[in-house]
Amino acid sequence: MPKLSVIGAGTMGTGIAQVAATAGWDVVINDTNSEILEKSSSSLVKVMNRLVEKEKIDQETADKILGRIDFTEDQQFFENSDLVIEAIVENLEIKQKVFKAVEEIVREDTIIASNTSSLSLASIGSALKDPSRFVGIHFFNPAPLMPLVEIIPAVQTEDKTTQQAKNWVDSWKKLTVLAKDTPGFIVNRVARPFYGESLRMYEEGIADFATIDWAMKELGGFRMGPFELMDFIGNDINYTVTETVFASFFYDPRYRPSFTQKRMSEAGFLGRKSGRGYYDYTEGAVKPEPKKDEKLGQAILDRTLALLINEAADALFLNIASREDIDTAMTKGVNYPKGLLKWADEKGIDWCVEKMDALYDEYREDRYRCSPLLRRMKEENQRFYG
Ligand code: NAI
Repeated sequence: MPKLSVIGAGTMGTGIAQVAATAGWDVVINDTNSEILEKSSSSLVKVMNRLVEKEKIDQETADKILGRIDFTEDQQFFENSDLVIEAIVENLEIKQKVFKAVEEIVREDTIIASNTSSLSLASIGSALKDPSRFVGIHFFNPAPLMPLVEIIPAVQTEDKTTQQAKNWVDSWKKLTVLAKDTPGFIVNRVARPFYGESLRMYEEGIADFATIDWAMKELGGFRMGPFELMDFIGNDINYTVTETVFASFFYDPRYRPSFTQKRMSEAGFLGRKSGRGYYDYTEGAVKPEPKKDEKLGQAILDRTLALLINEAADALFLNIASREDIDTAMTKGVNYPKGLLKWADEKGIDWCVEKMDALYDEYREDRYRCSPLLRRMKEENQRFYG
């Protein structure tokens, strides 16, 4: 079996190690912080115990999986790795420094990958002597549970590196999609309006948090409402992703962050983890009731959905990923009830264009510009599928 080395034993590194070891790979997991390594090890033991309790695996399998993972502060153990995945702090200079050191240790044919969510792969890869063997392998949190993995070649990446990375991750029983090295890749780009437009509607006074969440769940079939989800992710993290994507897109107004979320983050109202976000999570707190007005709810859903579809269509228009991969990414990476391009077909391309144009006419903001692809498809009477 091949050997994986993971750099960073935090949330993502530990999850990735579990995935590969479960698929039979030998794994070395490295961190500069010995306490984190111990925490990673004990959390994996706990996870395995729980899986045995739930009879998902037997004790022998659990022991074998744990037996395949070594924890070390010494990167010399990366020798003979077939694949290295880095999951350390999201900082370009630190990542580049770590990759330079790792390149001196591993074999010449070892594939080197980053799990970065927001940095450009081209910029990280530029630190390597041989960036042709470097690729983005982007897992979702929690890695053992989320089926999606985005594979992102940098401009320097050789095709065979991308293909090999994809084959290996597929063999770990993950669903891989290919994405261009552009901000947010697929999921974190296409999903922006789910948060951004909800915040905008709230700011305009169209509805409160609970009503927007109710509309998106009850009428849209989303598993969580946008404000519940932001509270779950953490307003600090979600805000930073939005701000990074916005800056990386040369300040395209479509991705502009919201003052509401910035203030929540500044105030320390981070969501579940701090006990208060858009909702109060302290014991005994009563959740506010939504205003269950169908007409209002439908308007909230339609506005967000039109922007989400527009974003997905534009990602296809700009060849960020294939039609199928864009739909798979949103259903398997963030649990959307339907692929957005499939959803566009169901609503009708005319509907999508009309909704975007109506918003644009009302606000006169570039934020609401309709994707040229949707407009072209409307004129030619096309659908995304069939
Ligand atoms: P984390 O903070 O839980 O873990 C990072 C770990 O890296 C820490 O344990 C730290 O001690 C270690 N570290 C820092 N510098 C190191 C070095 N030079 N050598 C070895 N270890 C070092 O972070 P998390 O959340 O696991 O994220 C890691 C990466 O994964 C980031 O690039 C992040 O953007 C990306 N990511 C995070 C997701 C999430 O939801 N948390 C989802 C997908 C990607």
